[in-house]
Amino acid sequence: MNNNLDPMNIKNDFPIFKRTINGYPLIYLDNAATTQKPQSVIDSLSSYYRNSNANVFRGVHTLSIEATDLYDLARQKVQKFINAKNFQEIIYTRNTSESINLVAYSWALKNLTKGDKMFISPFEHHSNLVPWQQICRKVGAQLLYIPLDDSGAIDCDKFSSLIDQNTKLISVTHMSNVLGEISPIKDLTELAHRFGALIMIDGAQSVPHMPIDVQEMNCDFLAFSSHKMLGPTGIGVLYAKKEILEIMDPFLFGGDMISEVTYEDAKWNDLPYKFEAGTPNIADAIATGTAIDYLQNIGMEKVFDHEINLVSYALEKFSSLENIDILGSQDPSLKGGVISFNHKFIHPHDLGTALDRFGIAIRTGHHCAMPLIRSFGLVAASRASFYIYNDNEDIDKLIDSISDIEDYFINE
Ligand code: ALA
Repeated sequence: MNNNLDPMNIKNDFPIFKRTINGYPLIYLDNAATTQKPQSVIDSLSSYYRNSNANVFRGVHTLSIEATDLYDLARQKVQKFINAKNFQEIIYTRNTSESINLVAYSWALKNLTKGDKMFISPFEHHSNLVPWQQICRKVGAQLLYIPLDDSGAIDCDKFSSLIDQNTKLISVTHMSNVLGEISPIKDLTELAHRFGALIMIDGAQSVPHMPIDVQEMNCDFLAFSSHKMLGPTGIGVLYAKKEILEIMDPFLFGGDMISEVTYEDAKWNDLPYKFEAGTPNIADAIATGTAIDYLQNIGMEKVFDHEINLVSYALEKFSSLENIDILGSQDPSLKGGVISFNHKFIHPHDLGTALDRFGIAIRTGHHCAMPLIRSFGLVAASRASFYIYNDNEDIDKLIDSISDIEDYFINE
């Protein structure tokens, strides 16, 4: 039996790959920004609106009951996907940023005080950096950075001499959206808990690409977005341990998140609804469940292996381009499916625009991680990021097109 996934077959499930860009077949290498959607996810959205559209938890009529069942079923799929112990531990948000803000405002604002410390890594996306800058400033806590070793990777040994009993929280990316490097989550979790701190994982780039088991990871919070894993935009997830959610105050107040309201006061609904004020994003939650079905049908081990193979192949091909510098580690065993690079003579925006002429989509800019990009002495970089529908041929076309563009920009 062939255990590899088949990107050509997978591509057929995605209507967008039927179109051309500037006369060329689309080569989509911007998956860390957002992923394309299979027909089943698009159908799931349309089917909900065509057949079952109604508000959830409110009605006794058939449509409301159907919508509620579909919505609950999708949450169970999320729970199973990350192996959370309880249904109540899955909170829907708009995206990873909102999930992190929920923890920042509902947990950190109450539990961090003057003199406390929290740590993040130097690799963070702005969504796991800016909320902590704001909260630490508000409460007078110190926002500190986990140290790196000489190779630029997280150094748990050095970190163990910095973390202490005043550390209340570590919040760290599982996989850098710029470098693709995977953080040593197990060691960081063990260190956090040894000192009585909680740990939050930004899983925006890991949950879509590798098997995740929150019970095994033993993290306290995990945030991720549906649109980076074949699902729709506008819906994200916060996982948190039930006992922590139980003592947290709600983030947003209003409809649905209450159990009882008087003119004077209100009591909160049970988990997870306590954290989901107002009519939820029903259609996108249901379609997230369909995206999970699609990924689980392939198997997350296979997804991860496929991307490691693509990264190994891409790193080897990139080494034939003498004017390209790869940012971060070049060891494929340390990386997920993301490679950021800088061309010595061609600005990333020129390169990205020229690649688009060949139908190739990459991301260029600061990748929502300005401090990290600046730490390489750059203001912008180029990034190719892979997913299940990419293959070696896509990488060949990227490399060949960069060579052609070099001929135009520097050899003409
Ligand atoms: N976080 C997304 C990216 O890295 C937007 O491109």
